[in-house]
Amino acid sequence: MVNKVRSLIRMIKVYVFKYILERSPAKAMLERDIQGYVQMHNRSMAGTPLFEKLAWLLLAENLEEFHNLFYYRVGTPAKFLERQLLALMKVMYKPRDTIYISTTSIGPGFVLMHGLGNVIDAEKIGENCLVFQEVVIGCKNEVNDRPTIGNFVHLSVGSKILGKITIGDHVVVAANTVVTKDLPPNSLAIGIPARIIQNAGNKAEYIANGIISA
Ligand SMILES: CC(C)(COP(=O)(O)OP(=O)(O)OC[C@H]1O[C@@H](n2cnc3c(N)ncnc32)[C@H](O)[C@@H]1OP(=O)(O)O)[C@@H](O)C(=O)NCCC(=O)NCCS
Repeated sequence: MVNKVRSLIRMIKVYVFKYILERSPAKAMLERDIQGYVQMHNRSMAGTPLFEKLAWLLLAENLEEFHNLFYYRVGTPAKFLERQLLALMKVMYKPRDTIYISTTSIGPGFVLMHGLGNVIDAEKIGENCLVFQEVVIGCKNEVNDRPTIGNFVHLSVGSKILGKITIGDHVVVAANTVVTKDLPPNSLAIGIPARIIQNAGNKAEYIANGIISA
């Protein structure tokens, strides 16, 4: 009996998240994010319906960092009922408190991998970007001195992207690299300070699609 109530409550969570998602102006973006998460974590689910993917993310994997992205995307719903439901969800299913997202525009297909200790304070982030744990994107000195990140950018574990710089499309930044200068499209940057060691080609795209592992 207790187990039945538990699984009912768990399923209600998925229905409520889906209810809010379906009514959100960010629905299309969230669908692409969900697809990105599924591709990174369990590619065999990539072709399943949205509800199954959502159930898998929220129940099977219980990816807390996905809550952060979900709440960021839906923002404050216009309708009273949705606002109340969302407030309840935020109490019951808290976002991870070591993730801080303060970016006006993040393109669809955004994935926070593992989501431990992230500050995402960019001017803008493009489509299909992949950000690992302990990545910081933020100001270098001044307030609003924030980076602009292109499409299909792969920021490996622990990397720091700082200041009013531009990271081009299909860039890969290696683990623990500190970037304080622009990176041209397709570059692979490594070290402190970051140096470009090779052309990343479309490596970032492959990584972001989960085709090759990071
Ligand atoms: C960027 C990355 C994909 C490059 O991999 P790669 O193309 O196979 O590159 P290589 O391993 O051939 O390295 C090329 C050179 O850069 C060096 N290098 C690679 N990664 C480095 C790093 N993070 N910092 C400093 N140097 C690094 C290598 O030692 C090698 O140097 P050498 O030419 O003098 O021998 C990889 O380094 C990386 O950071 N992967 C992501 C890790 C990650 O986030 N994992 C998630 C875990 S949860």
